[in-house]
Amino acid sequence: MTKHSGGLDDVGAEEKKECTVTFHPDNQVVTLAAGSTLLDAAKSGDVPLNASCNGKGSCGKCKLVVVSGKVDHPSTPLLTDDEKKTGYVLACQAKLSGDVTVRIPEETLEKKLQVAGMGAEVTDRLKGLVAEITLMHESVSLELAPPTMDDAVSDLDRLNRGLKQQGYDLDRMNMGLRVMRDMASVMRSQNFHVTAHILKKRCSNEVVGLNAGNSAGPGLGLAIDVGTTSIVVYLVDMTDGTVIAATAGHNRQAACGDDVINRIVCSEKDGVKKLRTMALATINGLLNEALFAAGRDRREVTNIALAGNTVMTHLLLGIEPRNIRREPYVPTVSEFPILKAIEVGIKADPDAAVFIMPGPAGYVGGDIVSGLIYTGFHREEAMTLFIDVGTNGEIVLGNNQWLLTASCSAGPAFEGGGVRWGMRAEEGAIEKVAIDEDTMVSEISVVGGKPARGICGSGMIDLISEMLMTGVIQANGKFALDADHPRMAAIGDEKAFVVATADQTSVGQDIVFTESDIDTIIRSKGAVYAGFTVLLRQAGIDFSMLDQVIITGGFGQFLNIEKAITIGLLPDIDRAKFKYMGNSSAAGAYMALLSEKHRKEAVHVCNSMTYVDFSSNNEFMSEFTSALFLPHTNLEDFPSVRRSKRP
Ligand code: FES
Repeated sequence: MTKHSGGLDDVGAEEKKECTVTFHPDNQVVTLAAGSTLLDAAKSGDVPLNASCNGKGSCGKCKLVVVSGKVDHPSTPLLTDDEKKTGYVLACQAKLSGDVTVRIPEETLEKKLQVAGMGAEVTDRLKGLVAEITLMHESVSLELAPPTMDDAVSDLDRLNRGLKQQGYDLDRMNMGLRVMRDMASVMRSQNFHVTAHILKKRCSNEVVGLNAGNSAGPGLGLAIDVGTTSIVVYLVDMTDGTVIAATAGHNRQAACGDDVINRIVCSEKDGVKKLRTMALATINGLLNEALFAAGRDRREVTNIALAGNTVMTHLLLGIEPRNIRREPYVPTVSEFPILKAIEVGIKADPDAAVFIMPGPAGYVGGDIVSGLIYTGFHREEAMTLFIDVGTNGEIVLGNNQWLLTASCSAGPAFEGGGVRWGMRAEEGAIEKVAIDEDTMVSEISVVGGKPARGICGSGMIDLISEMLMTGVIQANGKFALDADHPRMAAIGDEKAFVVATADQTSVGQDIVFTESDIDTIIRSKGAVYAGFTVLLRQAGIDFSMLDQVIITGGFGQFLNIEKAITIGLLPDIDRAKFKYMGNSSAAGAYMALLSEKHRKEAVHVCNSMTYVDFSSNNEFMSEFTSALFLPHTNLEDFPSVRRSKRP
């Protein structure tokens, strides 16, 4: 393999054992042994860097610009000649041999995520979903009678007597030694007026704390959605369910790959602890932000509900996920007991109760159960198809009689993974595209109204639909437009369509879409559509029998249904049957946080779902192959697309 000295300053320092890497623009400094990669340095310094393929050198997402110093790196077709000339390297391929300063370029830089759809209106809607608030961790104020010669029972018996009067079942009540040690002085501090803090578990309760005086109150709650890509935190006033702050951020595990398989591989190589630390750092950072915004203290947080896919919950809890990627794909835990914040590592009241949403299978997790709790279709007769187009493409089919579920391994393409200029739906992402039929010039709309720096899932769906309808590409995804057309470009040997010209972008170059990118999207949409088809067939129904199709996940709110049908991602049925429901996982976690009824419902729903495994399903493979056309090999399944297609 040819090695190059990369960067603008090739003279460099002498090779030495320890090398210092400075990351701009935040000037984070990391020291690491020579021979380590820049990606290793970013991971060890907690520098947020997107490494979609987990360092295999195949995604091109981990771009850095060497400002001074040198690194050794192989030649790669994933960087353009212009990028190479200006010092670009792939962090996962660039090895340290001396001190180096690098810059995270605009297209790699993570921007602050906005929490989609928050605000008073959404808070009110969420509050309206829960009839009655029931806490997992509650505080009870007790005015106990001080001991006398006629009533000389022990302090613990006195406390138990008070709790019994409040309706607690003493046979199911536990208490730790820590509480007993301080009990005598706490009780006497305010003449036997105390507040007991009780953690209510499924089969028993535990007195986890005792304070002098009356400090009873419902406190604060946290609803957390732990996504593979991003994490959302709602800080909730448990008195009435008001969301008093909401924050969102990128899951720092992104440095270990875009999808759950890469995360498992990374945990096998670097240890589960490392991935756990990354997720906890994200959650605790977001919690800090939310507490700061609301002017509250972490010790007030006593109730927590958390939803995530099965791999995310395993990694967050430090539980080995390795068997999830090996036949027969078994998770270590499906249904979790109520845990304490200190065990999980969330920096709230150490004894805060933590409810983890249960997940029915290794590839269908608590985030999907959470989505059902929020959308509620399992309570209705209407025949529903539910799809979460995230990194796994989980689907659920059914109603109040039965539920079938599957994961169709759609891959992370709709969240930007595996696509040259792909990115998440955040500031600078092209989210809408329309192509002029005569000039083939694209009219783009960008998140935040800023210059473009990439294209997100909804933008890609628009783009492919528009390219198909204007004749830029053929039904097999190959370009029909001449290579010398002004809107065409060449990336190495590959043809590409210019989506945005350099003057419309903040990255100083054209944003293009290559044939490989088109192929990646076709494979993803093909997997989702094949999943729909096989699941419906297993249930003995066809698309016309669906009463509704619920779409959730990151891009749900921007998705153009018509164009998603045009490319064959969604079935060609009555458009009125499609519903967007945004981040249903976070909303379901909110409902479980507030209500015992919904926590029990989640366990029931999880146990009612029948999981269908597509990994060795020949029917799925055959349907997948048929779906690798735009919109599909069988055009009769897409009559409206056939009618509107240009001859
Ligand atoms: S190319 Fe570096 S992480 Fe994918």
